[in-house]
Amino acid sequence: MNKPTKGIILAGGNGSRLYPLTYGVSKQLLPVYDKPMIHYPVSLMLQAGIRDILIIVSNADYIPMFKKSPIKANAKISFVVQEAPLGLAHAFILSEEFIKGHNVCLMLGDNIFHGANFDSILKINTTNHIYGVKVKNPSDYGVMKFDNDECLVEIVEKPKEFVSDYAVPGLYFFDGTVSDRAKRVKPSARGELEIVDVINSYIEENKMLYNFLENVIWFDCGTHDHLLAAGNYVQAVQQRSTQIIGDVMI
Ligand code: G1P
Repeated sequence: MNKPTKGIILAGGNGSRLYPLTYGVSKQLLPVYDKPMIHYPVSLMLQAGIRDILIIVSNADYIPMFKKSPIKANAKISFVVQEAPLGLAHAFILSEEFIKGHNVCLMLGDNIFHGANFDSILKINTTNHIYGVKVKNPSDYGVMKFDNDECLVEIVEKPKEFVSDYAVPGLYFFDGTVSDRAKRVKPSARGELEIVDVINSYIEENKMLYNFLENVIWFDCGTHDHLLAAGNYVQAVQQRSTQIIGDVMI
């Protein structure tokens, strides 16, 4: 099983789909109802038992702002700047020293998960592991492609033609070879090192496990509509139950 003790949260990128909201502030510092967005992935890492966390930011000016957020004292949080938006997989090259061959969990800083059994799902994660979530708009995401025997053969980034309904959300578990794999990835047509190419290198070697997240609510807060929907969801859950989503004091 080899559960990871290290986690990386990717809070880089320009947040251009959220302009003008993100002209002067990091996307991951925007509010999602009553907390900054970054609290949600940090909370998830803490739930998974990960307390050594590297946050990758797009601008050094944001680091003091992130540091102002109160986060449980027994977590070690460090920062690194990704100067240009070179892609999600570039995170593994930037963080090679941090990973140092250990198993690692990568989470996208604009993803929010919530579900009744999500804690137990996190606790059983295996070394190389991704998830699939059934969505109505698969062409917005990395999508799982299956063969006729329903075996996973590839992840296709934002497919123009239908591949399947199963998007791969921004929560990934990898072994310590991930930085070397990222170095071998070639930039895509949009000039980025794509996370799906790293995942595919594991799938080719039959080293990637996956399962479907059912009864888990997943938001990618990268657009105005999704940001609003996530905030409304957090508000509804917190006002109608005793649960707190994105608690960083656990
Ligand atoms: C990224 C990834 C994509 C993944 C998605 C999850 O897309 O490239 O594979 O499914 O995050 O949120 P982006 O939101 O950066 O377009």
